[in-house]
Amino acid sequence: MTREEPVVLVMDSGVGGLSVAQHIQALRPDLSLLYLADNGALPYGNKSEAWLNHRVATLAQRVVQEYPLQLVVVACNTASTLVLPALRASLSVPVVGVVPAIKPAAALSQTKHIGLLATPGTVQRSYTDQLVNEFAEGCRVSRLGTTDLVSLAEDKLAGKAVDLQRLAQAVAPLFAQQDLDTLVLGCTHFPLLVPELEQIAPRKINWVDSGQAIARRVDALLPQISSSEHMPHQAILTAEVDQTSTLLTSLSRLGFGHSRVWAMGAE
Ligand code: DGL
Repeated sequence: MTREEPVVLVMDSGVGGLSVAQHIQALRPDLSLLYLADNGALPYGNKSEAWLNHRVATLAQRVVQEYPLQLVVVACNTASTLVLPALRASLSVPVVGVVPAIKPAAALSQTKHIGLLATPGTVQRSYTDQLVNEFAEGCRVSRLGTTDLVSLAEDKLAGKAVDLQRLAQAVAPLFAQQDLDTLVLGCTHFPLLVPELEQIAPRKINWVDSGQAIARRVDALLPQISSSEHMPHQAILTAEVDQTSTLLTSLSRLGFGHSRVWAMGAE
């Protein structure tokens, strides 16, 4: 199933990167996307840094061996806040990372109190400290790390109802901060839950994610080709899912109708 046409790899632990892929598809309908969901190792948010570095490098190298790559999008904050320097050094194509959108959130906030909702890994990274120090001057930043929203987003795309009570419990510490008006969705799974977050939010909150900025970055790096045609997008999973799974239906609905499995486990 190796393809001749160059592809843009969009990789994440699961369905989260689809929130980024959708923006890329909208801005650049000419690009063929290869979506890699490392569902065999989901979630990334509680994995050690050494494990994550090794895992992402292994997956990217395997893709390079099988596909002609144009560009890699690490559509995962948990991985991007850690692996980008090593990954860029090991690949010959550009690598675009997704990191929490602290800067636009700080600019948008009226109250100058923003929240960072991300995975436990992302909230504690030194890279995240740097982003906050550099781009949130004059702002209070409340951080909350959770993997609950990752599984709720996975459930949603697998066709299950989102448990609003579990969602509310997970985000309660941030919603309880009365003057917090802007929330950075610092995990690519979380934009998939914005309709549900809006349902349970105690007041109007600005939700900020990096999806559009990433699509613009991809657009700037890859020359437009005249045709708006692309080969069918493809997906790779690292663990089998039931063939009747709604996950496959969701992938197909987003244009990833062809999928294959590299059974890898989480070693
Ligand atoms: N979607 C990912 C992120 O942006 C990872 C979620 C996880 O697997 O914990 O951080």
